[in-house]
Amino acid sequence: MGKIIDGKAIATALQERLKEQVAYFAMTVGRKPKLAVIMVGEDPASAIYVRNKIRACEAVGVTSEAYKLAESTEPAYLENLIRKLNADNSVDGILVQLPLPLGFNAKKIIPLIDPKKDVDGFSQMNIGSLLLDDKKGLYSCTPLGIMQLILSTGVDLTGKHAVVVGRSNEVGKPVALMLLQHNATVTICHSKTKDLGEFTRTADVLVVAVGQKKLIKGDMVKDGAVVIDVGINCDENGKLCGDVDFESVEPKASFITPVPGGVGPMTIAMLMANTLKAAKGNVQ
Ligand code: GUN
Repeated sequence: MGKIIDGKAIATALQERLKEQVAYFAMTVGRKPKLAVIMVGEDPASAIYVRNKIRACEAVGVTSEAYKLAESTEPAYLENLIRKLNADNSVDGILVQLPLPLGFNAKKIIPLIDPKKDVDGFSQMNIGSLLLDDKKGLYSCTPLGIMQLILSTGVDLTGKHAVVVGRSNEVGKPVALMLLQHNATVTICHSKTKDLGEFTRTADVLVVAVGQKKLIKGDMVKDGAVVIDVGINCDENGKLCGDVDFESVEPKASFITPVPGGVGPMTIAMLMANTLKAAKGNVQ
């Protein structure tokens, strides 16, 4: 195996396996799993993400329903749509694409999704399930994908020092909990951490999710570290780049994810896995 972790290939292989499992579900239950995707407004990046999610559904055999609401939609309309989808037994997963436009409070909207259908794993209940290691919960897709990429390297996390840079609810916090569940010793660093390099240099596994282009340089990484780059930024030339300075870090890492083609494709593959998991729990 090369040192570059091929997230695209790993995601494609996972989707192939999911396709078979979805077909088995459809044969035994008599219907396909169904994902409802809600997007409010016209954010161009969100539109691309939503399109890719719908395409992934088609690729694995999940039925998708896209709800594209105008930015001028009343929050009450969105709230009622979520309630309607919660009550619809043919819908297994509900996803509200973030960020929501101004005037919508995601903190109020996301908890309305039935936790059993919350395939993003963003609701209080599912984050609680992750904290308590309750395997029945639906966990956040990007952290799940990151764990698959780390495990694909064959590294045994037991007793290893994992350093997470970033403390978001969507990536930093949940991935730290997952690393802990795999018996790593976990440190969480963030924007207020003093002398970040002091911490990152001690990492056997380094996960970076802060949204700052090329923040992590080669001299901040230990020889042989596994480096996972969750960032999606534009560099000086308008080219996509991560939070890790690939050029200087790659020679030191034992394994490293590229941007693009690392973590990104795994997020959508794990969304499909969560949709199937939700569907299995929603068999009437
Ligand atoms: N916006 C950017 N990433 C995500 C995601 O994983 N889920 C949702 N719902 N919105 C996002």
